[in-house]
Amino acid sequence: MNEKFILQYEPAIGNQDIKKINEYLESGGFITEYQKTKDFENDISNFCNVKEAIIFPNGTLTLFSILKVLGIKKGSKVIVPNYTMAATAFSVIEAGAEVIFCDIEWPSLCLSLDNLNEILERESNSVSAIMFMPANGRYPSYDINDLLNVCRKYNIFLIEDSAQALGSYYPSGEHMGTVGIAGSFSFSMPKIITTGQGGAVVSSNQDFIDSLRKYRDFGRSSGGGSDNHDSIGLNLKFTDLQAVLGISQLKRINKLIEKKKENYKLLHKLVDNPYLNLLHNDINKTTPWFYEVNTNFQMELSEWLKDNKIGSRVMYPELNKQKAFEFHKQHKDTFPISKKISKQGLWIPSHPKLDKEKIIRIADVLNRFKPK
Ligand SMILES: Cc1ncc(COP(=O)(O)O)c(C=O)c1O
Repeated sequence: MNEKFILQYEPAIGNQDIKKINEYLESGGFITEYQKTKDFENDISNFCNVKEAIIFPNGTLTLFSILKVLGIKKGSKVIVPNYTMAATAFSVIEAGAEVIFCDIEWPSLCLSLDNLNEILERESNSVSAIMFMPANGRYPSYDINDLLNVCRKYNIFLIEDSAQALGSYYPSGEHMGTVGIAGSFSFSMPKIITTGQGGAVVSSNQDFIDSLRKYRDFGRSSGGGSDNHDSIGLNLKFTDLQAVLGISQLKRINKLIEKKKENYKLLHKLVDNPYLNLLHNDINKTTPWFYEVNTNFQMELSEWLKDNKIGSRVMYPELNKQKAFEFHKQHKDTFPISKKISKQGLWIPSHPKLDKEKIIRIADVLNRFKPK
């Protein structure tokens, strides 16, 4: 058989995207951040129904900058789920604060409210923020307002690391990323829309927005071009060239979402194998970023898929057990649910360019899997 390898992810760049980028380059645009980035910010804030969006070079610098602007630094503690992309925790460390790992709940893979409450009873005075990560765009089993109430009770900032959640809503109707002080998105290659690298912070808190805008533009007191600085800042600006791609991608986000959901439904209809199961997303409210398999035969299944020309990716490891956290007092602790998913989770091909034929092929290979 001469079938092509199906990648776990590839970007869905369309002819419209290429046309828009060519048009922009031919127009003599400045490439650097200017009007197109502002337009992209407006489009993102409209899409999420939030006061403002501020575009960043990626979804790690967004998190770092949120923490810096909120004044989270040495001496502060931030609660981070033990199942997330490392950037969620690294941004806290780089801001100078301490990470407190918290387990997640099954099957949403979002922060466990029980574990969170235990931590807060123990550490109530020193925790400054919670990083909530809607895993794969899923909402938790509890009402997000319950989490907000906990934050209010302890006077803690809620930051939503919604990198995986563009196009996903809480059951109460708010777009993910918009209920806390700030939400963060990523537009890296495997995200629902991509600008190659890119990120956004969304917020409705005007003081925070003003400070964040200053921070990402060298702390300039009166914006673009002025060389008066009333606070410390960095250069965390974007490029209009990437913004053109972002605007174009966002124009067809509904189509991309539809495709992701259609493929999700077909996979769930076709896959039937006692050795594995697919994790669930509420596709009425949320957009599955990746399709997730849960199996006791993670590496064997990954090899089987590879032998059948299908890419996959092991889901996130237990963050506290990573070598990078050898110094951390929780390095040896066990968080049962993040351990379970790290040993059993596999991401299978999930990009919106997958057609029906490829989904049928993936389902067939999954169905023929039998551990040795
Ligand atoms: C939950 C989460 N946070 C942060 C990031 C980092 O985003 P970026 O790659 O844009 O820096 C990612 C990227 O996958 C992510 O999934």
